[in-house]
Amino acid sequence: MNEGHLGALAEFGCGTGFYTQALVTRADRVTATDIAPGMLAVAKERIHTSNVTFQLEDCQATSFPDEAFDTAFIGLLIHFTEPAKTLAEMCRILKPRGLLIFSNLDPDALSGVDRVRCLVRIPYHGITGYRVKPPRAFGKNIMTEKQLCDLLVKSRFQVISTETIKDTSCSSNIPVEYIRAVKV
Ligand SMILES: C[S@@+](CC[C@H](N)C(=O)[O-])C[C@H]1O[C@@H](n2cnc3c(N)ncnc32)[C@H](O)[C@@H]1O
Repeated sequence: MNEGHLGALAEFGCGTGFYTQALVTRADRVTATDIAPGMLAVAKERIHTSNVTFQLEDCQATSFPDEAFDTAFIGLLIHFTEPAKTLAEMCRILKPRGLLIFSNLDPDALSGVDRVRCLVRIPYHGITGYRVKPPRAFGKNIMTEKQLCDLLVKSRFQVISTETIKDTSCSSNIPVEYIRAVKV
């Protein structure tokens, strides 16, 4: 993650803390949240820095006050939510000119093989790793980069960068897209 200073940061869908461990090194304080208590429990076990707190939150309707954060991070989560509702909530809790960062699974960035791999691996890891079935309507709100950028503009954000990253050293790696936008 190639970011400057992130100030007070809220992370949504922290899961097992994969991104949290990078975010705590770049922000003054991190409020790492997830809708699933089991995920938060795993993340808490993994990360022990003094600038992180863990909290149960639905990113579509949080308990945070208006303009509470400099940065919000949404990691591989937007497709599980009603995207417009999530972006409206991010706009509410971010300070003016606050930064919103996404990691997103863009179907347009996936080659044929990666597409098949995603379809197999995501439910497989959910069932074997976390013992959960994919939620109903799973995948309904998966968004391409263009769809997400258009929705950001409609939701009072200005897109400042998009980048797709694939770790070519790992044959099973699926490309992940990063989008940065500021609240206008
Ligand atoms: C694919 S996982 C990504 C986890 C982590 N960001 C990562 O990349 O390793 C999606 C996470 O979003 C959480 N989640 C799903 N719906 C949510 C919602 N409405 N609000 C907050 N978190 C949610 C899930 O519990 C899960 O931990």
